[in-house]
Amino acid sequence: MSKAAVSTPLANAPLDIARIRKDFPILSREVYGKPLVFLDSAASAQKPQVVIDAERLCYEEEYANVHRGVYYLSQVATEKFEATRTRVRAFINAASDDEIVFTRGGTEAVNLVASSYARLHLEPGDEILISELEHHSNIVPWQLAAEEKGLTIVPIPILDDGQIDMDAYRNALGPRSKIVAITQMSNALGVVTPIHEIIRLAHDAGARVLVDGCQAITHSHVDVQDLDCDFYVFSGHKIYGPTGAGALYAKAELLDMMAPYQGGGEMIARVSLEKSTFKKGAAKFEAGTPAIAQVIALKAALDYVDDLGMDRIADHEHLLLEYATDRLSAIDGLTIYGTAPAKASIVSFTMADIHPHDIGTIVDREGVAVRVGHHCAQPVMQRYDIAATVRASFGLYNTTEDIDRLADALGVVKDMFG
Ligand code: ALA
Repeated sequence: MSKAAVSTPLANAPLDIARIRKDFPILSREVYGKPLVFLDSAASAQKPQVVIDAERLCYEEEYANVHRGVYYLSQVATEKFEATRTRVRAFINAASDDEIVFTRGGTEAVNLVASSYARLHLEPGDEILISELEHHSNIVPWQLAAEEKGLTIVPIPILDDGQIDMDAYRNALGPRSKIVAITQMSNALGVVTPIHEIIRLAHDAGARVLVDGCQAITHSHVDVQDLDCDFYVFSGHKIYGPTGAGALYAKAELLDMMAPYQGGGEMIARVSLEKSTFKKGAAKFEAGTPAIAQVIALKAALDYVDDLGMDRIADHEHLLLEYATDRLSAIDGLTIYGTAPAKASIVSFTMADIHPHDIGTIVDREGVAVRVGHHCAQPVMQRYDIAATVRASFGLYNTTEDIDRLADALGVVKDMFG
């Protein structure tokens, strides 16, 4: 997080990155005969050995379906599965385990809210505010609900530096505002939004707030009670956990107001061929067999992050962000998008008129993995009238040497394009 967004000073002992890197087996591999530099953690973070081991242990020794068996293995699997729910609850400081719904990830969590809350409780003409910064997964589910129910999508613009235009936001809020769906940190630019203020203003206007925390949760402490958000979504795979396991936090009273998202096993209280009744709380939204091993291993990821300390991770990543910003800005013809003071861990850029895909392909041959494209955030690209950027994103295991390798690889690009 940028200084503006981090409350804890750099007094924390710095992370021992050389030691931490040994926890991530993939980081010791080579690509094209060169040591891997992985700068795409915003898309999906690499996994520490403890996460890999937790998933393997589940399959090797503790696997059975959860919530269904009276036998030993099923009970062990269920206990471990539910232990992750408790862990997620503590990690984001929700009031109760029952406010944590496991989903496949952030995308499914937004779809769940759009489907189960917006479709049920919003009326034609009601407004959903979404910002220009949003990932497609926090745009399209609302558009689908809007089309079906005659709702209006109200866009919130961003300023040139990539920050939310708060004046425009204040003006956009009104009596028809029912939901504000907003990111806590842009995946395309790294800009960190003033989320407390956004939530406060939304509540003053009577709107509910869904926070897309997929990026922010990997770089900052999240306290949903302090935020007072109504919904918070995140993906496990971006916070060093497995794919296929993420979570929706929703205030308990909202879960009670929501209709089931999917029907199936385990979410029911009673089924007859005429009518079914449903469980209460999170269980109502968890139909079918969940991602058992992945959810169990998600706990190992959250433990790992907590053991290192989120403040220390944030401090380290902030240093990387500053270093990368300085180093890359010095490259002739390079333009950084997203220059707001509040930023974390992502540098998004173009280089003169060289296509980002060419840049991505060339730096890959130098062993450097970056993401190129629109980053599933086309409105951001439209805002800057560009088709794509190159995005370097940093995880807790990255080093300034990684950034030097990127800068050197960009030198190769420049040489090739003259
Ligand atoms: N949402 C992911 C990204 O930002 C995939 O790359």
